[in-house]
Amino acid sequence: MALSTAEVETDESVHSTFASRYVRTTLPRFKMAEHSIPKEAAYQIINDELMLDGNPRLNLASFVTTWMEPECDKLIMSSINKNYVDMDEYPVTTELQNRCVNMIARLFNAPLGDSEAAMGVGTVGSSEAIMLAGLAFKRKWQNKRRAAGLPTDSPNIVTGANVQVCWEKFARYFEVELKEVKLREGYYVMDPAKAVEMVDENTICVAAILGSTLNGEFEDVKTLNDLLAEKNKETGWDTPIHVDAASGGFIAPFLYPELEWDFRLPLVKSINVSGHKYGLVYAGIGWVIWRNKEDLPDELIFHINYLGADQPTFTLNFSKGNITIHS
Ligand SMILES: Cc1ncc(COP(=O)(O)O)c(C=O)c1O
Repeated sequence: MALSTAEVETDESVHSTFASRYVRTTLPRFKMAEHSIPKEAAYQIINDELMLDGNPRLNLASFVTTWMEPECDKLIMSSINKNYVDMDEYPVTTELQNRCVNMIARLFNAPLGDSEAAMGVGTVGSSEAIMLAGLAFKRKWQNKRRAAGLPTDSPNIVTGANVQVCWEKFARYFEVELKEVKLREGYYVMDPAKAVEMVDENTICVAAILGSTLNGEFEDVKTLNDLLAEKNKETGWDTPIHVDAASGGFIAPFLYPELEWDFRLPLVKSINVSGHKYGLVYAGIGWVIWRNKEDLPDELIFHINYLGADQPTFTLNFSKGNITIHS
């Protein structure tokens, strides 16, 4: 949500042409009214004001889904009053999220076996997913450095300068330096060779984008993986890769199944994807999937006991989202 500022001028009123029959005195705009009004009038006033918003169906600039089948609308409306975090009360909703995590982990070719269990969580969108993935990388790097008696005060992430603003947000909020590979004339994505050159012992991960926000182009994750694997071998650092597949995660597996960008590449440890972009769902859902249990430090998982059973969660907010342990 945009940051709102409290207005000093409080005498302004709401203009309510069509509800005026019910509204005998003007309604204050920035403070609560002294008296209540009929709910029908309140509806009419708000509905009329909202007509001044643009029409989402005509918003061709949006990456975000603006139409779903009527059956989906019905399902959404019949579940809208459930608090997603209350997994004991809504076990079927939880089961549906578990199935989604399983499907997406498989779609992204997570290695599944007795000792390998991909994990994932539903989020509000790719931004929250990226905050969580970034936190996991930062904590893992800190744990490793502390165990080796090395300083942990200057973590960095290497990305292309074309990253979406949520990476800058992550860097600023969670105090990680963002080292951006510059773009150049005719080349508007991260150059994998330059990215690997910028990696140092404080790099918590290299973030590649599958579907650059600027032009939709896929970055070359395979070359990045191979070059980084060589550098890791030389230095012994073990620097991982995150793929920001906000836009491309639900495109590449279907249109380019041979393209290796996902968990088929050994250094790819986590991937985020927005359901509400090419996953064709209204705004408010994204996912982050980790390759393996070890890629998500246990101390970041909160075990809450809401109504009797243990509920492992890893989210930035409380009333939505839960975590699934894939088996
Ligand atoms: C590459 C990329 N990453 C992350 C985001 C943020 O995604 P969300 O809007 O789902 O938080 C976007 C949104 O445009 C994006 O294009």
